[in-house]
Amino acid sequence: MDNSTVAPGSITDFGINSRLSTLQQNDIVSEIIANSKIIMNKNSSPVFNPVSLIRTKRDKGRLSREEIKYLIDQYSRDELPDYQMSAFLMAAFLNGLNDEESSALTESMLHSGDVLDLSDITGIKVDKHSTGGVGDKISLLLAPIVASCGVPVPMISGRGLGHTGGTLDKLESIPGFRTDLDLKRYREVLQKHNMVLIGQTAEIAPADKRIYALRDVTATVESIPLIAASIMSKKLAEGINALVLDVKVGSGAFMKTRLEAQKLAEKLVAIGEQFGKRTIAYMTNMDQPLGRYIGNWLEVKESVEGLQCNGPDDVMELTHLLAGTMIHLGGKTKTIEQGIEMSKDAVDSGRAFDAFKALAAEQGGDTSVLDDPESYSESQFQFDLEAFEDGYISQFDAYQIGMAALELGAGRKTKEDDVDPVAGLEMVRKTGDRVQKGETIIRCYTNRRDVESITKSQLEDSVTISSNAPEPAPLISHQIDKDGVKEF
Ligand code: URA
Repeated sequence: MDNSTVAPGSITDFGINSRLSTLQQNDIVSEIIANSKIIMNKNSSPVFNPVSLIRTKRDKGRLSREEIKYLIDQYSRDELPDYQMSAFLMAAFLNGLNDEESSALTESMLHSGDVLDLSDITGIKVDKHSTGGVGDKISLLLAPIVASCGVPVPMISGRGLGHTGGTLDKLESIPGFRTDLDLKRYREVLQKHNMVLIGQTAEIAPADKRIYALRDVTATVESIPLIAASIMSKKLAEGINALVLDVKVGSGAFMKTRLEAQKLAEKLVAIGEQFGKRTIAYMTNMDQPLGRYIGNWLEVKESVEGLQCNGPDDVMELTHLLAGTMIHLGGKTKTIEQGIEMSKDAVDSGRAFDAFKALAAEQGGDTSVLDDPESYSESQFQFDLEAFEDGYISQFDAYQIGMAALELGAGRKTKEDDVDPVAGLEMVRKTGDRVQKGETIIRCYTNRRDVESITKSQLEDSVTISSNAPEPAPLISHQIDKDGVKEF
């Protein structure tokens, strides 16, 4: 077959596609052997046949480091079309990636952009990442606590994803707060405040940004190796020295079972350590939303309460554990327990709240709403989900609650949607609480006139009321580090 006759966009039995037409123009020489993976170009650097690589993964084979790098590099250069990347992602989703392949994928995605060097900033730089949950506002408390204890926190966060909320959307509910700083400003703010809170820039792991968007629309999100590479490529590009991970497990998490969450945690820790970053993960419960509020401004308000010693128990327990671990990894204490004490002192003394306000002002935010949260505007409409019988709340479906938050306007159904800062939910009751028929379980806040009935029916499905009180589930179940898994 004569390659020159292959029309752009066509796929042949030889795995020749539009991209090869491009490569031809870039001096591909002659020889293509049907089903072979490698085509040599005239500089003798290998040019792989993408169809062959996809076929290998489809048939449960293993790809080499070079082959994975080739796919990611070509995709980053727009020389591998979305449909071939999607096919590779689905093959990886279905058949998995071994440790070597996962590490190659992470490394290739990491090097698709800049890897920041923060060595000129004094101190051990530590960040935290959560795999995503409902009502998870911990980063808002954590960054100022840890920074005010002297550990630099260069935090690059994401937006809400599906049913889960995102730190950037929450921060942007503070009027004027800018999360789109360039890397020069990122350094300046970090230097000055010991922390910075921004979104993924075009320079940071751009392959992840594109691949993530593709996974979102090709049903390939919930894959342990793909999630691990996505998270770690971004985190490793930030210029950190150590990382704390909050791996959520339960109805509101991407990982629904303990075993899946443990595999993800182990993979994340293994990748972090392999890249020379001390990494500690915790597995934490996401069967019900964290704290009492879900929604962007509502969660900022709850975080401010937490920084003013008035936060809900679950939020504060997790915050102090993660902060204590970061403070320990940042070299400020000998043990995590001492780090937890330091974290509590940062809150009790008011240092952490002051640090948060100073950062918000630096990034353009109006701090008057942090000093006086009641001055923030309220939603136009409120309605309640009431208990349909007497009993104990034995279970929530946090996924359904997250989806209800989207319906109210707190999240996005499409990438282009705007989020409403005041929309959201208040968990008036939590798992284990006793309720009487007619009592409010969840209060909804929205500016949308027509969402009450759909949201209520979603929420009704999310609550189980039983005659017996449920066994309390631990909020934090396991710690995973390079030495293995420990029950908490
Ligand atoms: N968070 C990420 O950054 N990537 C994923 O794939 C899932 C959660």
